[in-house]
Amino acid sequence: MQKQTIRDIDVTGQRVFLRVDYNVQFDDGAILDDFRLRESLPTIRFLEERGAKIIICSHRGRPGGRVVEELRNEPVARHLSTLLGRTVKSVRDCIGPEVEHAVAGMQPGEVLLLENVRFYPEEEANDREFSRKLASLADVFVSDAFGTAHRAHASVVGIAEYLPGVAGLLMERELDYLGRVAENPERPFAIILGGAKVSEKLAILRNLSEHADLICIGGGIANTFLKAQGIDVGASLVEDERIEDALEIMRLAARRDDLRLLMPTDVVIANAAGERINTVSVNRIPPGWRILDLGRQTLDDIREALAPMKTVVWNGPIGFFERPPFDKGSIDVARILADLVGATTVVGGGETAAAVARAGVSDRISHVSTGGGASLEMLEGKTLPGVAVLRDRVE
Ligand code: 3PG
Repeated sequence: MQKQTIRDIDVTGQRVFLRVDYNVQFDDGAILDDFRLRESLPTIRFLEERGAKIIICSHRGRPGGRVVEELRNEPVARHLSTLLGRTVKSVRDCIGPEVEHAVAGMQPGEVLLLENVRFYPEEEANDREFSRKLASLADVFVSDAFGTAHRAHASVVGIAEYLPGVAGLLMERELDYLGRVAENPERPFAIILGGAKVSEKLAILRNLSEHADLICIGGGIANTFLKAQGIDVGASLVEDERIEDALEIMRLAARRDDLRLLMPTDVVIANAAGERINTVSVNRIPPGWRILDLGRQTLDDIREALAPMKTVVWNGPIGFFERPPFDKGSIDVARILADLVGATTVVGGGETAAAVARAGVSDRISHVSTGGGASLEMLEGKTLPGVAVLRDRVE
C-alpha cells in the first residue's frame, strides 16, 4: 500500500513535526558523515517553500533515557544550518515550556531542531502521554526517519495517534526502491550479501531467494558457507551454529535450476599478526590465516555474473571494510554496480553506503538507503511500524 506524502496534503502555514534520522557521529565537533542530513534537505526545502513551520525531531545514539552531553543535537543544528544556508535554531529540550515558547515564536519557513528525543525514557517506551506532548507542538506529523522506522518509539509511531501522519520525500524514495526490491524486482535480479553474520542475513536470503536469479555471498558470512562446504577456512570468523542454515540455503539454491549461488573461489588472507597478506584459492588457506576480502578472480566472476542483471541489491561489505587494504573488494563491488547499464541498483546498510561513498560512485547508484537495520527489515519482507502508522494513499 502506498503512503500519503507531503505532496498529498496542504502544509501551507502549518506547524510540521518532522521526524528525521540524524543519528550521526561527530569527532571533535566535525560531523563524520552528513549523508543522512543531506538526504533530508529536499523535504525541508519543500516545507520551507510552502511556509510551513518546521519542527525537526531526531534521536542520536543510545543515551538510555537520560541526558548525555555528547549526544546533544546542537552540533547537528549547526551543520544543518550550513547545508541549508540559513540559521537552524535549536532548543535544549523536546517537550515543555521552553520548546512551546520557541514554537510559538516561529515564522513561516523557519526551522527549529528539538533536543535528542531519546533523552527521555518515554521515547523508546512509546509512551502515550509523551507522544501526546510531542504531538501538541504541531498540526501535522511528517516522517522522513526511514532509518528509525523499524523502532516502535513515541516520535516514530506513538505520535501518529494524535496527528495525521504522512511520508516525507526521503521516506517516499526509500519505500519506493526498497519496497520494489523486496516485493517485485525486475528480473534478472541479483543479491550481493556480505557483512559479518549469517544470522543477520538469513531472513533476507529466505525472503528474496524466491525471486533471485543470482546470489553472491561475500564478507564474513561467506566463511560460514565455505566451511559448510567442507572447506578449511583457517582462523577465519565462522558462525558454527549457522552451518546448518548455510546448508539449507545451498540446498534451496540447488533445487532451482535458474538460481545461481556465487561463492568466493579466491580470497585475500592475512596471518594472525596481520603483517603478511596473500591472495589464495579458497582451498589453500594455511592454518592460522584469516579470510579478510574477496580475491581478484571472484570479483571478476561477480562483474561478469552481474552484467545482464536488471535489479541488484547489495547489503553488507564483502571484506573487512573497516581495515584497509581489506576494503578493496567492497570498493570494487561499488564500482561494478555503478558501471552496470540499465539496471536498478539499491544499496542498503551503513557500511555498504560508506563503501559506495569511498568508491566515489554514490551518484551512480539508483538508490543508497539511509537505513541500516530498517533497510534489512524491509528486505526481509517486514512491515516497519514507523511506516505502518502513516496514512495510506487512497487510489
Ligand atoms: C540507525 O542508525 O540505524 C538508526 O538511527 C536506529 O538506531 P538504533 O539502532 O539505535 O535504534
